[in-house]
Amino acid sequence: MLFEHFDLRGLPLKNRMVMAPMTRNRATAAHVPTPLMRVYYEQRASFGLIVTEGTSPSADGLGYARIPGLFSAEQVAAWRLVTDAVHAEGGRIFAQLMHCGRASHVLNLPAGARVVGPTSTPLAETIFTDESGPQLASPPHALTETEIALVVAEYAHAARCAMDAGFDGVELHAANGYLIEQFLNANVNTRSDRYGGSIDGRNRFALEVVRAVRTAIGATRTGIRISPYGTFNATGAFPEVEAQFLALVTSLGALGIVYLHLVDHSSMGAPTIPASFKLALRRAFRGVFIGSGGLDHTTGEAMLTSRAADLVAFGRAALANPDLPARFEHDLPLNAPDAATFYTPGEQGYTDYPCADMPVATLGG
Ligand SMILES: Cc1cc2nc3c(=O)[nH]c(=O)nc-3n(C[C@H](O)[C@H](O)[C@H](O)COP(=O)(O)O)c2cc1C
Repeated sequence: MLFEHFDLRGLPLKNRMVMAPMTRNRATAAHVPTPLMRVYYEQRASFGLIVTEGTSPSADGLGYARIPGLFSAEQVAAWRLVTDAVHAEGGRIFAQLMHCGRASHVLNLPAGARVVGPTSTPLAETIFTDESGPQLASPPHALTETEIALVVAEYAHAARCAMDAGFDGVELHAANGYLIEQFLNANVNTRSDRYGGSIDGRNRFALEVVRAVRTAIGATRTGIRISPYGTFNATGAFPEVEAQFLALVTSLGALGIVYLHLVDHSSMGAPTIPASFKLALRRAFRGVFIGSGGLDHTTGEAMLTSRAADLVAFGRAALANPDLPARFEHDLPLNAPDAATFYTPGEQGYTDYPCADMPVATLGG
């Protein structure tokens, strides 16, 4: 089933393989996409759908060095070169909107921007900066309710920018301990106002962002990624985790957004998401469901045939194999990803992974 066409609510995908979002830090120091990024995504246009690296909806959200933004005219024009190149190859591409929130360092932010979060408690981890190497994450400013409304509006603006840049849709990054999950996760969000204190309170920010983006660009262009049980950026499970995410996903299903992308980080050391809970999430959402985390050819195919997911996403295998769909289809060996160049500037470990030699019969026709 991996190689079957798929209709993503009116958007035809040439197969059911998704390139998972991966931060690669190859934008400029001013957070503008580069021609090298065009090459990287164009090389991977044989995936049914590409989800870009985490891309900030605002200056405040740019927590890491050299990650791209999607809120200025310059960024829109630069992204347009990427989307045009992917579309010219028959690919489809969603922009992942990632606001880093407190997973951030001021040295990575443009002048005038600030580190923000649901509370003023800093992330007790280091953040890489080009200027001074790894630094403890900066203390965040706790967003007021008025400021939260402005952040929600920033997401809607970025979603409109994504349409201007030619993207097929946006994926809201509500996983891995970035701003949206900082509000969702009870270990991080200790607010006692309307944006915390209960399942509904912690879900409020995520749902406000989804509604604003859906109003801006439409339900069929709005997807979301979640990682319950994930541990990145000091999140982790909490007593109400299943009830909370079930309530969230039920509301997302009612909003009719185009897909729910679930990532299981057990292949990266987090606790496994119980199979019964995954099924409950899929049932609660009712729409297109993307499975991801530690998948290979066999487990990806099995996930589709057992109807555990409609689409399956591949991260590190896509990073190291620009032609992964063809390699799977022809049972060709895979390049191994080089973790040392995941986040370093330049072509090395980025656009220089080779494609496989195709069997002669394939080349002929
Ligand atoms: C270099 C790298 C960067 C990543 N950046 C992001 C990101 O920006 N947004 C996101 O949602 N997940 C990110 N992830 C997680 C991947 O999307 C994926 O969930 C993870 O690699 C597990 O899938 P895999 O086993 O197929 O690699 C990143 C992973 C890697 C290896």
